[in-house]
Amino acid sequence: MRIDIITVLPEILSGPFNHSIVKRAQDKGLVEIVVHNLRDFSTDKHRRVDDYAFSKGAGMVMTIQPIEAAIQYLKSQREYDEIIFTTPDGIQFNQQEANSLSLKRNLIILCGHYKGIDHRIRENFITREISIGDYVLTGGELAAAVITDSIVRLIPGAISDETSALSDSFQDNLLSPPVYTRPAEYNGMKVPHILLSGNDKLIDEWKHRQSIERTRILRPDLYEKYLKEQ
Ligand code: ADE
Repeated sequence: MRIDIITVLPEILSGPFNHSIVKRAQDKGLVEIVVHNLRDFSTDKHRRVDDYAFSKGAGMVMTIQPIEAAIQYLKSQREYDEIIFTTPDGIQFNQQEANSLSLKRNLIILCGHYKGIDHRIRENFITREISIGDYVLTGGELAAAVITDSIVRLIPGAISDETSALSDSFQDNLLSPPVYTRPAEYNGMKVPHILLSGNDKLIDEWKHRQSIERTRILRPDLYEKYLKEQ
């Protein structure tokens, strides 16, 4: 898989992909993540990528020219399955969306900035508009990092024990059960005795019950979905 990220602030994205599972996935050749500076595609002599909005008081808007040039350049190199735009007014990202994107070959993620991008880009080039939640970030870079991280860990081989990504919270609309490690007792706080029983069947049943109960209490919205899909 290849993920191309187009941004005006490439520095923000130099950290998140250089650690842990996402770094190992790149080292293993499972994914290539390439960050492009949008200014490199600007024909403006000051490398500007924004301009005043036609409507008064709307702030600065990202212009078409460098974005179109960046997208066309990438599309001339390979075919893309999706051209994603990160924006607070997009469809809210979730695990199902991460699963579906993890099956794609090539993705472009365009990070929004300023007050928005010229709407003609959204109408003519973008295939998916994604928000990571109902709050406004300074720019789309952190959203692009969140989306990329959640996709990459799902690529087969990215996590050594493949079943561990499948047992993540949300995969079946249930939150994960609690986990514990040694010592079995710490200052009087005990690990649930069933986990010490060595009986895998009973432990699995306990974990499933815990998942259901935690979801019912903490995320009634997810619990409804879970019940519907039973
Ligand atoms: N850009 C600014 N806020 C955002 C959000 N919540 N999701 C995606 N992109 C954004």
